[in-house]
Amino acid sequence: MDFQNENIWIIGASSGIGEATARLLAPEGATLFLSARSEDKLRKLKNTLRGNHYVHPLDVSSRDDVFKVAKTIKEKHGRIDRIIFLAAIYEPTAIEEIDPAFAEKTFKVNMLGALHLTQALIPILETQKKGQLVFCASVAGYTGLPYGQPYGASKAALINFVESLAAEVEDYIDIKLINPGFVKTALTDKNDFDMPMRIEPKEAAAEIVKGLNQKPFEIHFPKKFTYVMKLVAALPYFLNLAICKTIAKKRKEKA
Ligand SMILES: NC(=O)c1ccc[n+]([C@@H]2O[C@H](COP(=O)([O-])OP(=O)(O)OC[C@H]3O[C@@H](n4cnc5c(N)ncnc54)[C@H](OP(=O)(O)O)[C@@H]3O)[C@@H](O)[C@H]2O)c1
Repeated sequence: MDFQNENIWIIGASSGIGEATARLLAPEGATLFLSARSEDKLRKLKNTLRGNHYVHPLDVSSRDDVFKVAKTIKEKHGRIDRIIFLAAIYEPTAIEEIDPAFAEKTFKVNMLGALHLTQALIPILETQKKGQLVFCASVAGYTGLPYGQPYGASKAALINFVESLAAEVEDYIDIKLINPGFVKTALTDKNDFDMPMRIEPKEAAAEIVKGLNQKPFEIHFPKKFTYVMKLVAALPYFLNLAICKTIAKKRKEKA
C-alpha cells in the first residue's frame, strides 16, 4: 500500500466507514481532505489524525458546494490523486410509508451527489492525466430487496452510473465501485432485523484501502455475503422473487 504524499478527498468522512477509511489512510502518509455536512465531527476527526489534513464541509446535494470544494483543493494543493465518495442517507421503510420528500432527498444525496462530484472532478483528473474516482454503492443495489427503498433504488442507480462512467472515461482515470454488505455504523443501527455477516467499520475500511491499489473495478466485502447476494441478483425472477418474498414475509411476521 503506498499512499505517501497523495492528496485524497474523502466525502462522507464524518462517521462510519468514511471516518474509519480516513483513520487508515492518514498513517500511510496521505494528505486528507475531509468532507461531510457535520463540520464539528470532521474537525474532531482531523485533530486525532497524524499529519496535515484539511476539513471542507459540504452538502453533496449542492452542486455549488461540490464544485467550490473541488476547485479549492485543486488550486491550493495542486492535484487530487483520489476521491472517495461515501456520502449517503438511509431510512428503512415499507414502500407505502415512504415520504416523497425524503425519497427526493435520498436521490439528491446518494445519486446526484455522485453526478456533481464526477462533473466537478473529471476535468481536473483530465488535466492531471491521472487520478482515481471511487464511489460507494451497496449490495442493496444488486437487486430489489424488501423494505430497502428508496435507498436500494438510489444505490442501483449509482452502480449503473459508475459502470457507465468507467466505460466513458480515458484509461488514465481509474474508476472504482465499492459494494459493502452490512457494516456496523449509524446507518445500519436503524435496522431492526438481523444483519448477516455484519462487520465493523475498521474491517470495511481495510478492504477499501486494500482494494484501492488493486486491479478489480469492484471492491466488495465480506465476500461470503456479497457472492450470495450476487447469486440472488443473477437468478431468474421466479427464484429471485421467491427468495425476496420470503425475506419480506419474515420481516412482516417479526414486526
Ligand atoms: N453500513 C453499511 O452496512 C453499508 C452497507 C452498504 C453500503 N454502505 C454505504 O457506505 C457509505 C458510508 O455509510 P456508513 O455506513 O459509514 O454510514 P454513516 O456513518 O451514516 O456515513 C454516512 C456519511 O455520509 C455523510 N453524508 C450524509 N449526507 C450527506 C450530504 N448531504 N452531504 C455530505 N455528506 C453527507 C455523513 O455525514 P454528515 O451527516 O455529517 O453529512 C456521513 O459522513 C454510504 O454510501 C452507505 O450507503 C453502508
